[in-house]
Amino acid sequence: MNRSAVPPPVTAVMDVASAWLPERMSEVERRLAEIATAHGPELGVEAAATLDAGGKRMRPLLVLICAGDRSEERAIRAAVATELIHMATLVHDDVLDGAPVRRGRPTVVARAGRERAVGVGDLLLSRAFAELAASGDEAEVRELSSAAVALARGELAQRHDACDTSISEERYLHRCSLKTARLFESACRVGRLSAGGPGAEELAGFGREIGLAFQLLDDVLDITGPPERTGKARGTDLKDGTVTLPLILALRKDPSLAEVSLAALDAAEAERACDRIAATGVLDEVRERARGGIESAKRRLEGEHFSDAERSLLALIADGMVERYS
Ligand code: IPE
Ligand code: IPE
Ligand code: MG
Ligand code: MG
Repeated sequence: MNRSAVPPPVTAVMDVASAWLPERMSEVERRLAEIATAHGPELGVEAAATLDAGGKRMRPLLVLICAGDRSEERAIRAAVATELIHMATLVHDDVLDGAPVRRGRPTVVARAGRERAVGVGDLLLSRAFAELAASGDEAEVRELSSAAVALARGELAQRHDACDTSISEERYLHRCSLKTARLFESACRVGRLSAGGPGAEELAGFGREIGLAFQLLDDVLDITGPPERTGKARGTDLKDGTVTLPLILALRKDPSLAEVSLAALDAAEAERACDRIAATGVLDEVRERARGGIESAKRRLEGEHFSDAERSLLALIADGMVERYS
């Protein structure tokens, strides 16, 4: 694996893991590249560029750790499939959000247009299920299929709520569960299923909680930047009308924020709105909630089904999320 392209939470895990884990991650990477480039120039170039642009590979790493060293081929296929689903949803998400930049580079929709981006996302999603089907395990196919359905429902709910500053915290959390937490949950569950080991439900709960925390922190990062670290401009969510927890909480402290017209923000106005949200002090509140979720997630692994090595790798991933974002 090309370590320079891999961000800190993942390298930290690689440094302490036994050899099987980095070896399998390299194999996942090799197969992702093979799949992305295998479909001719029209779709392949954009799929390969999406892969090349980087990404933290958190989800395949979770699949492999939850599988442990017992399940080689099935775990690798499940890890590849999970990352392909994630990549597909990012490509489609950028179409829905009209996002110009991802992973520090122009998005597929910005580079190649809407039609091509929809096609690239479809390609990646289809290949994910072909990969899983090759393992022949129906439970894994069902699991990731329902995660993909949840993602689509979460994205549609977010579009439905666009620019609505009256949405409740519960509605926001529900959207995050669907669009983000569910795939983390499934990554952990399919990992364990692929190895046939006990503890799949505890791991699924761990994945769900860190996934939710991850989205909360991502939404803080949209306000704080900096763009060099996030790979996108500050206030991208506000500009596309996405009302996130920092804004929901900030509106309670500074009701005059409701006058900001999300639908019509330019880049400078979006940055100013970010500063106003930050000035209310809510970002620490959101970070604190995310930390609480991560601590609660780790407590799920206290039982007998988990080795100390597994616990410490999973804790490194969970804690790495907070370090990256604070
Ligand atoms: C981005 O996920 C979408 C969210 C759920 C916030 P990641 O931050 O894991 O994306 P990459 O794969 O590292 O680019
Ligand atoms: C997460 O939503 C994207 C998916 C889970 C598909 P966002 O719209 O917040 O993600 P970014 O900020 O574009 O990565
Ligand atoms: Mg987006
Ligand atoms: Mg989005």
